[in-house]
Amino acid sequence: MTSHRITLLAGDGIGPEIMAVARQLLDAVSRRHGFGLVYDEQPMGGAAIDSCGEPLPSSTLQSCRDSEAVLLAAIGSPQYDSLPRAQRPESGLLALRSGLELFANLRPVKIMPALANASSLKPEVIEGVDLLVVRELTGGVYFGNPKGRVEANGQVRAFNTMAYSDYEIDRIAQVAFEQALQRRGRLCSVDKANVLDVSQLWRERVEAIGAAYPTVELSHMYVDNAAMQLVRAPRQFDVILTSNLFGDILSDEAAMLTGSIGMLPSASLGSKGPGLFEPIHGSAPDIAGQDRANPMAMVLSAAMLLRVGLGQEAAAAELEAAVERTLAAGYRTGDLMAEGCTRLGCGAMGDQLLAALEG
Ligand code: IPM
Ligand code: MG
Repeated sequence: MTSHRITLLAGDGIGPEIMAVARQLLDAVSRRHGFGLVYDEQPMGGAAIDSCGEPLPSSTLQSCRDSEAVLLAAIGSPQYDSLPRAQRPESGLLALRSGLELFANLRPVKIMPALANASSLKPEVIEGVDLLVVRELTGGVYFGNPKGRVEANGQVRAFNTMAYSDYEIDRIAQVAFEQALQRRGRLCSVDKANVLDVSQLWRERVEAIGAAYPTVELSHMYVDNAAMQLVRAPRQFDVILTSNLFGDILSDEAAMLTGSIGMLPSASLGSKGPGLFEPIHGSAPDIAGQDRANPMAMVLSAAMLLRVGLGQEAAAAELEAAVERTLAAGYRTGDLMAEGCTRLGCGAMGDQLLAALEG
């Protein structure tokens, strides 16, 4: 029997609750499809600060490197906000992304028919939306140097650097063009080339890489306009390619097209080594430990792990179908609750997902 080793990082806040649901479903779906999963649970984020004194212990990073894929729930909690930046949970996540060289972050946004009315936008605006944000993940202003904080002449000044090298743009552009080839063949690169030097290089390199993809229709859009177009006419987008910070912002915005950020999975990939699969939402400390979280983005992330990380397409499709069936049957967590639906907690939603999978 094929067996895959995966590292599980439950993290903080609602992380452990939604990870428990994902694990239950992974167990079931792997049994149904005749492959084994061996889990290595490791501390990460605030949980690792508490147990090991740092947000990404080297043993956690090593376990990730030694596994075929990594599943992460969520990290972060207000109790760590006062720590120096390098010791905060978020720094652990950035160190994990960069340590595994996960430069390509794929964030698919697809409206599930059962949730057409869940969005704050009109159903006719979001109907049929199916887009993919390809976000650069290990460069840009998140990692640029110089950065820091200086005090001089009685003034305090803090700064970061938004920088990209040509090879960083080339490799993320390649990923985006390849994705466009597998989808509807349209790629919109989002930048701020009317103002930023870094965006000018971005645009030049995306054009250059595009020469090798004549069948992909390439367009460019300024990020302010893209933010507007995403809520004005989101169906115009197929693949959106953008930098680290712009992608962070636009993917949260795009998430709301689906009605809840609790629905969106993501995959972070490098050119070799294991991928990292995680919901795009955070650790939601306000509802942690109350059995109220929506586990669906987590379960959909597990499905992406099966498909992209392990090549288990049939099992992935079955998990996704279980999510759709559960929604179609009217089960909702609080974030998506609507009239006529049945409200469930996180654990009970996990049970329904399991029933849908096995039913
Ligand atoms: C995300 C998150 C992270 C980011 C935070 C938690 C560091 O917002 O994955 O989108 O900014 O990349
Ligand atoms: Mg974000």
